Amino acid sequence: MVMEIATNPVRASSGAGTARKEGPAVQAIESEMHVAPNAEANLLNLMIVDDERAVRESCREVAEALGFTTRVADSPEHCYRILDGTNVDVVLLDLRLPGTNGLEVLREIKRRRPDTDVVMMTGFATVQSAVQAMKSGAYDYVTKPFNFDELRLVLDRVTAHLQLATENRLLRQQVKARHGFGAIVGQAPEMDRLYRIIAKASSSTHPVLILGESGTGKELVARSIHYSGSLRDRPFVPVDCGSLVPSLIESELFGYVKGAFTGAVRSKDGILAAADGGTVFLDEIGELPIDLQAKLLRALQEKEIRPVGGTRAIPINVRILAATNRDLEAAVQQGTFRHDLYFRLNVLTLRVPPLRERKQDIPLLAGHILERVARTTGVQRNISDDALKLMLNYDWPGNVRELENCLERACALTTGPTVHIADLPTALQNFHAETPVVEETADSPGVAPLAEMEKRAILHAIASLNGDKLEAAKQLGIGKTTLYRKLKEYGAAV
Ligand SMILES: Nc1ncnc2c1ncn2[C@@H]1O[C@H](COP(=O)(O)OP(=O)(O)OP(=O)(O)O)[C@@H](O)[C@H]1O
Ligand SMILES: [Mg+2]
Repeated sequence: MVMEIATNPVRASSGAGTARKEGPAVQAIESEMHVAPNAEANLLNLMIVDDERAVRESCREVAEALGFTTRVADSPEHCYRILDGTNVDVVLLDLRLPGTNGLEVLREIKRRRPDTDVVMMTGFATVQSAVQAMKSGAYDYVTKPFNFDELRLVLDRVTAHLQLATENRLLRQQVKARHGFGAIVGQAPEMDRLYRIIAKASSSTHPVLILGESGTGKELVARSIHYSGSLRDRPFVPVDCGSLVPSLIESELFGYVKGAFTGAVRSKDGILAAADGGTVFLDEIGELPIDLQAKLLRALQEKEIRPVGGTRAIPINVRILAATNRDLEAAVQQGTFRHDLYFRLNVLTLRVPPLRERKQDIPLLAGHILERVARTTGVQRNISDDALKLMLNYDWPGNVRELENCLERACALTTGPTVHIADLPTALQNFHAETPVVEETADSPGVAPLAEMEKRAILHAIASLNGDKLEAAKQLGIGKTTLYRKLKEYGAAV
């Protein structure tokens, strides 16, 4: 459905410049609060701030069709009164309210309600100010005149954003409360997806398979699932299937009875029995020998184990979380991993993204690591612009663990409060030396394919603006959509 929303219908019908009158009769019809009558309520409150009644009404119609409860205000003062008295999740704000500057109203709304998303409504001629508005904290903008579909699209985006923000806030609070020392850091969209699955996994006790490259945070994720779920007061027991010899893994997992082998002077419970009611985290599950895979599968299916050398079955009651950096599906195809165990473990799969796919989190992670170092050393350090730029360009094959090692080492080496390029490890120094820089001088103009120059200009702009893509697009003179498309083409995180 396309419904043109007139931005100035009253003036259009009664002649340009004619003052509009909104007497008490009109206000009586246009009640302040309205609950969507038919649509499924989305539980979000939306306020429309516009001096033109027709715009308010049209927006209200669209918002209510999407399930918002709506309120309207025709002036900033009216808007603040509503904000002070009620919970408002979204404000649709006219950028050109008579006698006031829309940006100031925006800033005042954000000051009073930082969590409220503001969508600016702006005339075509003021797109520049809309960009300015986004820099001042607006979530998005729509250009007048807009139609039903355009407004619906923006409101759908805001809804998704608010729901995600709420869930992530709750999850973070939960994860922080339960797991103080190692809260997961990251705000990239890839991480938002991860938080959603962690929340889902925490509310069940099914097995979860955690995939991801080395150092991405798989164990941290496993701990978060356990400590934010219903088993949080029970044990969390990690077992590294990759570092133990097979005979040891077996006795570790299943336990043994006295006399089962030389040195077994007394019986010992295995982890699967000892973690009773808790979580066993099978790290590097891809390394588990094939005969033990069969034994583990049986234990999980029958919910009981037989200790090494024993004949009596012992019931177990544990949740299994497993992790690997190997391609388990390929291992199943090659016959080195049992497909029935794979399906048993793979009830819920979670992929922890590599750091190069979420480079915008590097400054945040770096800050987190520097703070942790400062807690032990008492010295709060920061990172020089050059060093941060280099870190943003580097691909981090060892992921967050490599970033941690890099900064811990740099802090140990540097005496001053700032980490410079020279303090960074060899891998980064080499990367710095190898990164081609095309120098343009009068004598030897640096020449590179145009596409390459464009790519460098884009990545350089983003890095030097600390990841602020919107500002980078603005300074480069290209649209944000173009910038995101280019980043996708380069395989960079968007
Ligand atoms: N998102 C994150 N926020 C904060 N710290 C993180 C994050 N991801 C990883 N880390 C830290 O990085 C280090 C490596 O994480 P972890 O041991 O969980 O990774 P892993 O995927 O299990 O690695 P490996 O495959 O090498 O065992 C840990 O010190 C962890 O605390
Ligand atoms: Mg690990």
